[in-house]
Amino acid sequence: MFTTYAAAAALLLRVASATDVYAHFMVQNAYAYDVDQWKYDIASAQQIGIDGFALNWIPPDCVNGLGWTVDRIDDAFTAADSMGFKLMYSFDMSYSSCNVYWNQSFMGEMISKYSSNSATPRWNNNILVSTYGGDQVDEYGNDFFEGLKSSLTGSNAITLAPGLTTYSMEAGSEGADPSSSASSMLSDFSSADGYLNWQAWPLNVDSNMTTTADEAFQSALKSSGRSGPYIMAVSPWQYKDLNNGNPLDSWVAYSDTLFVDRWQQLVGDNAIKPDIIEILTWNDFCESHYLRNLPDENDTSAKDYVELGDMGAYVWGQNHAPWRIIAKYYIAWMKQGYAPAITMDQVIFWHRVHPKDTSCYGGSSTAIRNANMPADAVFAWALVSQKSTISMSVGSNQYWEFEADGSGPSMGMVPFPDNANGAVPEVSIMRDGQAVHTSNSTQAISTDCSWQNFNPVVNLVGPGINTG
Ligand SMILES: *[C@@H]1O[C@H](CO)[C@@H](O)[C@H](O)[C@H]1NC(C)=O
Ligand SMILES: *[C@@H]1O[C@H](CO)[C@@H](O)[C@H](O)[C@H]1NC(C)=O
Ligand SMILES: *[C@@H]1O[C@H](CO)[C@@H](O)[C@H](O)[C@H]1NC(C)=O
Ligand SMILES: *[C@@H]1O[C@H](CO)[C@@H](O)[C@H](O)[C@H]1NC(C)=O
Repeated sequence: MFTTYAAAAALLLRVASATDVYAHFMVQNAYAYDVDQWKYDIASAQQIGIDGFALNWIPPDCVNGLGWTVDRIDDAFTAADSMGFKLMYSFDMSYSSCNVYWNQSFMGEMISKYSSNSATPRWNNNILVSTYGGDQVDEYGNDFFEGLKSSLTGSNAITLAPGLTTYSMEAGSEGADPSSSASSMLSDFSSADGYLNWQAWPLNVDSNMTTTADEAFQSALKSSGRSGPYIMAVSPWQYKDLNNGNPLDSWVAYSDTLFVDRWQQLVGDNAIKPDIIEILTWNDFCESHYLRNLPDENDTSAKDYVELGDMGAYVWGQNHAPWRIIAKYYIAWMKQGYAPAITMDQVIFWHRVHPKDTSCYGGSSTAIRNANMPADAVFAWALVSQKSTISMSVGSNQYWEFEADGSGPSMGMVPFPDNANGAVPEVSIMRDGQAVHTSNSTQAISTDCSWQNFNPVVNLVGPGINTG
């Protein structure tokens, strides 16, 4: 009797269970979506263990012509409600210039609207709400959040886990003291019940990410007695080029092995245990960290059609879908607490398509921040059921090998050769001297190029997700 009661109470108190996984979703890229398209994306996310989307949307009247986002969110809730999927608001409060900014009554209306929908995530009974920003634009800030929270009561009350970029960037800076950033955040934002640490990439340094900042925010929340979740961000890559002549507006983050490194921090004996993971992102194409299949660039009638303009020049053709296999494996490990059995032979390999010192004709070729940081190499992550040799070739760098077996994933790489122009990376899974599976990359490396591109293409050897 007692057990049943305790279990029921636990269920009530913490419906978002330990380490739920959300993926950041740009509603702006869902212009053409209908309910079925939302269902397709949700099924594809659920296939790898994602529990919900964090819906990033900018104020609908911030710029002209975004009023449709409210209707798309309606459709998203209809789809998610029928599929046991969650939708968490991630109000984008980063636009410093808007015709109409976010206001508390409209946000409150949108939060309350789906209060009884099964897709609404709850934390300590409250509706869980997150943001991107809210700390850097004068119209918002702590008082704004306090006002929003006090306007929502009863079944509409919220638990706020904002993503405040000032503190996350400060904590991620070289030589920073993340615990001091975490305590400033808590003292400046009494409204923050939890926290999303947005900084999922090395910040202008060519070193691998550690969990120091994550641990600082997590333990500061806990020791201050805040009741909300610590949300840790995990991302595969970062490259953006607005191509507007401003060197501040094109950058790459050191991301060569970031995705695997970050997931490894979440599994095993020394795993960091955040309350929630937020994958950055599902469909932010222009920042090169999408996991979703690429839409068809030319099918303007497709329900996932998206207009990327110039930025499409570094996105179209750069499939990332096989990265979802990596996510699926680690999400399963994280949730169940032990490594999943390996039943297939799969190698995921990724590479940029131009050596880093290449000047292409278009795009910001010479002013990309951190352009010297990535290694000119093909990286591979292998998950095989039996002892195998993984053989990697690119141009004159032939048959670079590493060993893999059924005990867990392993990684290898092969550098681009000096003359890489035209080379197509080729990767094989070998057993007993025979290739069991071989794949060529879908993209050749080139040094004669029409547009600069630091967004990698991701490939798969063996069976599994490979569309896009
Ligand atoms: C609040 O935001 C909504 C949505 O953008 C807008 O329609 C409304 O006019 C705003 N209200 C105020 C008082 O600014
Ligand atoms: C990052 O870690 C990888 C191993 O996962 C290692 O090969 C690489 O050298 C590291 N990068 C830096 C800049 O230390
Ligand atoms: C879309 O059209 C352009 C221009 O005709 C072409 O270069 C490109 O390959 C097409 N993309 C796809 C995915 O078919
Ligand atoms: C990869 O490309 C090479 C060179 O064009 C070709 O010989 C080989 O058959 C290709 N492999 C696969 C699996 O398509």
